[in-house]
Amino acid sequence: MAPQPIAIPQKSPRVVATSISPPTQTLHDRLRHRESHASFGVIRQPKVLHPVDNEGLRLLLLENISQEAVSYLRAQAFTVDHYTKALSEDELVEKIPHYHAIGIRSKTRITERVIKAASKLLVIGCFCIGTNQVDLATAAKAGIPVFNSPFSNSRSVAELVIAEIIALSRQLFQRSFELRAGIWNKQSKGCWEVRGKTLGIVGYGHIGSQLSVLAEALGMRVIFYDVINLMPLGSARQVDPLQALLAEADFVTLHVPELPETVNMISKTELEQMKEGSYLINNARGRVVDIPALIEALQSKHLAGAALDVFPAEPASNGATFDDSVNSWSSTLRSLPNVILSPHIGGSTEEAQRMIGEEVSQALARYLNYGSTVGAVNFPEVDLRAITAEQGDHVRVCHVHNNQPGVLRQVNDILSPYNVEKQYSDSKGDVAYLLADIADVSPTDVNKLREQISKTRANILTRLLA
Ligand SMILES: NC(=O)c1ccc[n+]([C@@H]2O[C@H](COP(=O)([O-])OP(=O)(O)OC[C@H]3O[C@@H](n4cnc5c(N)ncnc54)[C@H](O)[C@@H]3O)[C@@H](O)[C@H]2O)c1
Repeated sequence: MAPQPIAIPQKSPRVVATSISPPTQTLHDRLRHRESHASFGVIRQPKVLHPVDNEGLRLLLLENISQEAVSYLRAQAFTVDHYTKALSEDELVEKIPHYHAIGIRSKTRITERVIKAASKLLVIGCFCIGTNQVDLATAAKAGIPVFNSPFSNSRSVAELVIAEIIALSRQLFQRSFELRAGIWNKQSKGCWEVRGKTLGIVGYGHIGSQLSVLAEALGMRVIFYDVINLMPLGSARQVDPLQALLAEADFVTLHVPELPETVNMISKTELEQMKEGSYLINNARGRVVDIPALIEALQSKHLAGAALDVFPAEPASNGATFDDSVNSWSSTLRSLPNVILSPHIGGSTEEAQRMIGEEVSQALARYLNYGSTVGAVNFPEVDLRAITAEQGDHVRVCHVHNNQPGVLRQVNDILSPYNVEKQYSDSKGDVAYLLADIADVSPTDVNKLREQISKTRANILTRLLA
C-alpha cells in the first residue's frame, strides 16, 4: 500500500497532513528480520519515521551549498532544488511557497515578508555560523526552527592559532615582508622555539580545548581561564583569576564569545598584567580587545607581537580596503612590526565548509523525519529517544504551540484514549514545542488525532510522524 497523502489546508493556524508508513517497507522488513535474530539485550533498531507526505517534501538549497549536503538530503528521499546563487527577497517570495525547507548561507535574507509567503515552510537551515540574516523571532512564531553550524570550524581555528604562535615566536611574517622588499635579514635575536613555553587560553570551549591538545603536542605548557570549572584535557591546568593567567603565559589567546562582559576584556590594565615580551592572539571577536591599548603595548615593546583575525568593524566584502575609514587605528596597526593581521579566516577551510554541510543537512533531516529540534537557535530544544522498529503502530506527535496555560491539558485530553509512551515539552519565549509518542494508533485514528490537536486554540503547527 502506498502512503496516503492528505490535502494540506492552507489557512492559519497551519496544519500539515500526515502519511502513514506502508506496512511492508523494505527497510522495516530488513530491520525486523535482524531483530528476530537478535537476542535479548541487543540494541533495538530505530524505526524510520515518515514525515508528512514524505514524497512531497521539497527543499530549496541556495548559495552553492555543498554537494555532500545535496546528496545526503536526496538520499533521505527529499526533492532538492540546488542553486549556486542567493535569491533576492522578491525572488524568494515567489519561490518559497513551494518548499518545505530552505538552506541558505549568509547572503540570503529570510525576512518577515518571506516567512509570511512561506505557507508550507517547516524548517530553515543556515549553512554557516551566523543566523542574523534570518528573522528568527518571526520564524519561531510561525513554528519554523532555524538550525546553523556553530562548531564545525573549531579545529580550523585551533590550527590557525598554532600557526600564529610559531609565526609570532619566529618573527616569520616580519622576515617574509623584509625579503619580499628585497632585504636579507637573517637573525635569531628575539626568536624562540615554542617548546616549553606557556600558552594561556582564555575561554576553554570548543576551540580553546582543541587548541589545548594541539599545543601540548608541541611541548607547550597549557593553562586556561574560563568562567566555568572545566575538566582540563591532557596536562592543562585551569587558573583563576584571569590575572593569574596573564602573569604566567608567554602567549595569551582569546576564545570567548562576544558578550557585554567580554567586550574590551583585554584592555590597558590586562595588557600591563601580561608578561614582558609576551604575545597576544585574538581569533574570537574584534571587540574583545581594546585595540588602541594594544597598539600602545606593542609600540612600547611591552608585548613582542600580536595576531589579530577579527576586528571591531570588518569590511562587508572581499576586495574592500581595510583603512582608517573602517577602524580609526587601522593604518597604525598595519605599520607595526611582528603583527599578523588576517581577514577573519580562522574558520575558513574546505574541511569546515564540508562539516557545515553535513551538520546542517543532518539537522534538517532530523527535524523533518523525527521532529528533533536539538541545536535550533530560535526554538525550544526537544527530542525523544527513537521509536523502535517493532513498535510499528506508534505515532509521533510534533506540536508547536503558543506558550500559554492549559495547552498540555487540552492535548493530553485528546491523547487520553491512547498510551502515551513518552512525552517531552519545552518552551522558549512565546513558542512551546511538544513531542509525544503514542502507542496503538490505527491509520484512521491518526487523521482524527491530527485534526483534533490542530484545532486547539494555541496550535501553530501540528505534524504527525509514523
Ligand atoms: N576567527 C574565526 O573565524 C572564528 C571562527 C569560529 C569561532 N570564532 C569565535 O571564537 C570564539 C569561541 O568559539 P567557541 O566555539 O570555542 O565557543 P564556545 O562557546 O565553545 O566556548 C566559549 C568558552 O568561553 C567561556 N567564556 C564565556 N565568557 C567568558 C568570560 N567572561 N571569561 C572567560 N571565559 C568565558 C565559556 O564558558 C566557554 O567555555 C567565539 O567568539 C566565536 O565567535 C571565531
